[in-house]
Amino acid sequence: MNTVYETVDPGNIDPGIIKRAGDVIRRGGLVAFPTETVYGLGGDALNPDASRRIYEAKARPSDNPLIVHIADFDSVYEIADGISDEACLLAGRYWPGPLTMIFRKKSIVPYETTGGLDTVAVRFPSHPVAAEFIRAAGGYVAAPSANISGRPSPTSGRHVLEDMDGRIDMIIDSGECDIGLESTIIDFTSDVPVILRPGYINRKMLEDVLDKVATDPAVTDATENVKPKAPGMKYRHYAPKGDMTIVSGDGERVAAYIEDELLHKKENERTGVLALTPSAGRYEAADLVIDMGDADNEDEIAARLYDALRKCDSANIDVIYSEEFDTPKLGSAIMNRLIKAAGHRIIHV
Ligand code: TXA
Ligand code: MG
Repeated sequence: MNTVYETVDPGNIDPGIIKRAGDVIRRGGLVAFPTETVYGLGGDALNPDASRRIYEAKARPSDNPLIVHIADFDSVYEIADGISDEACLLAGRYWPGPLTMIFRKKSIVPYETTGGLDTVAVRFPSHPVAAEFIRAAGGYVAAPSANISGRPSPTSGRHVLEDMDGRIDMIIDSGECDIGLESTIIDFTSDVPVILRPGYINRKMLEDVLDKVATDPAVTDATENVKPKAPGMKYRHYAPKGDMTIVSGDGERVAAYIEDELLHKKENERTGVLALTPSAGRYEAADLVIDMGDADNEDEIAARLYDALRKCDSANIDVIYSEEFDTPKLGSAIMNRLIKAAGHRIIHV
């Protein structure tokens, strides 16, 4: 399949390209598009064949449900039931934005889209190109992240091209995503709303609006022993090809440990380090050092994370060490992704 690649400036959206992209979706095709979190791989959420195609293009297990993206608040009532007052309050505060809510699904949403579940995940993204595209596509776009299953999520058009060239009809490139981590997911189908995936909308921001919030134990558990409620969170995810280890503890001890490991690496092994700016200069023995920014610039660390993991792949890195980025606001979302990328390998020093 020939994949059409179009660039769209979010400040000056070309209506012709958006219309063509919308037509592709209405015909049952697939279009990758930008959102404020990561790029999505879109298909018509109400068309079971389109959803099947999404799973195929991503090589994704079909029990892993897709998020339905909308571009008008009222659209949520067409596809979901049991939308509580609290959920409306939360939507009022954070929609459009990086928040996905799970409700009971209405019958118009096919099981192919929800991975066989009776619930549906709904997201109203704030990216202007996403909004125009979703409207042009008919209002309901199923979209997982536009990566091959298991690879780091794409945060630029180039990342999407790496994974999806020849597999989908069209890619809309609008530059780098602002946030760089997938949306927060909160499940409203139980008595107390439950966070299934941490994201930019953190626990404190949810508690500002909601009486009570629970967190799925699998989100905070650093081991692999707890089964997550979001089916997708159980897979080894966000993963670079190299073996990654997170080194946790006091900053000086972490840097000293990584330096020592680099000196004792196996011959022919290519090494990479993800480091905060102050220590990045210490890892001269590594083949690749990625400066993730300063600890007090959390947004930058989050936005760089997936690109850093992909850079390790492009540089054929076999062994990756990462410092810990347990920052106050986004730390739980960043570490949740990093721990999965590392296959739960954490060393405390
Ligand atoms: O920021 C995002 O949410 C991005 C952009 C493209 O919007 N999308 C995204 O989709 O991250 P995906 O498919 O990569 O991740 C969706 C996650 C998966 O872990 C999936 O299992 C979970 O949401 N999920 C979807 N529907 C669900 C449902 N009904 N119940 C529980 N978990 C659900
Ligand atoms: Mg994904």
